[in-house]
Amino acid sequence: MTTLVTGGAGYIGSHTVRQLVNAGRDVVVFDSLELGHREALLGAELVVGNIANQDLIASVCKKYGITEVIHFAAYKSVGESMSNPGRYFSNNVTGSMLLVEALTHAGVDKIVFSSSASVYGTPAEVPVREDAPLHPESVYAETKYMTERMLHWFSETHGMRSVSLRYFNAAGDSFDSLIGEDWSVTTNLVPVVMKATLGKRDALEVFGNDYPTRDGTGIRDYIHVVDLADAHVKALDYLAEGKPTIACNVGTGTGTTVLEVIQATERISGRKVPYVMSPRRAGDPVEVYADPAFAAQTLGWKAQFSLDDIISTAWQWHSTHIDGYTK
Ligand code: WQD
Repeated sequence: MTTLVTGGAGYIGSHTVRQLVNAGRDVVVFDSLELGHREALLGAELVVGNIANQDLIASVCKKYGITEVIHFAAYKSVGESMSNPGRYFSNNVTGSMLLVEALTHAGVDKIVFSSSASVYGTPAEVPVREDAPLHPESVYAETKYMTERMLHWFSETHGMRSVSLRYFNAAGDSFDSLIGEDWSVTTNLVPVVMKATLGKRDALEVFGNDYPTRDGTGIRDYIHVVDLADAHVKALDYLAEGKPTIACNVGTGTGTTVLEVIQATERISGRKVPYVMSPRRAGDPVEVYADPAFAAQTLGWKAQFSLDDIISTAWQWHSTHIDGYTK
């Protein structure tokens, strides 16, 4: 069995590729290298291309005997998606459709999809369960929702079974600091905190400290990227057992505030995090964290790592790779 990993040279993709290779599985990475890094692959087989190139996908499937796919390749900036919706619908939705159609024609019938908890929008209640109403509140989130629905119909019409993994807040880096996140392509909290603490950007802006939470700042479910990678391997195993198409939350089930992330960083790094209080960011929910029971029940997956693991691996990676992957 050979696994094709689209977007495998990216942050979560590269950590998943490493997990698959370490488990002795045959892997081929398919990445445009528009945002990913060849150095993050540690020598794994790479085909450079665009997921919309159906002829190339067909030839890769034939050449390597692809039997299953993990589909990470997508743009993921919520803010950018709202200023450039066409770029997001074209790459994330049309690109995914062309990819899945080519895979179906190549006889591939199992796919794990990199979805997002943002398909829930502002959740009606927390912890968030998979049967919560889906109402995306950004173009990015809409593209994830639309791709999940497209996968549902490819499952119904062509037997292309899938697991859509709805990530909560991916964070942290590899435990040996061999690979990690490229902070130049993200505005997410943890890499921004690291950058500010290392003096590589202005002080962190805390987007709101007047929320109805224990310390007034927003609450999210931060999940270690290695835990996320493990969830993808377990999702492939689930599909290999012939089980049906599902969507799963991938979170720890624990909510953490922005100030708690800052305090953990100060404790672990031994440095002060420079930050200022700023107004709330439009569109931010007060509190989002997962009910992880369904993933435990169906995939046999549960997060193993803590917030301290997230912060210590992030600090270890960013403080030793101040310029990320050297080009
Ligand atoms: C986390 C918390 C902010 C930055 C988004 C996407 C989601 C997923 C993860 C891709 C919030 C606060 C942040 C800063 C801050 N992306 N914050 N200052 O918005 O929860 O989720 O990224 O899959 O789909 O929606 O993540 O890291 O931007 O914010 O105070 O400079 O940190 O208000 O409470 P978010 P985030």
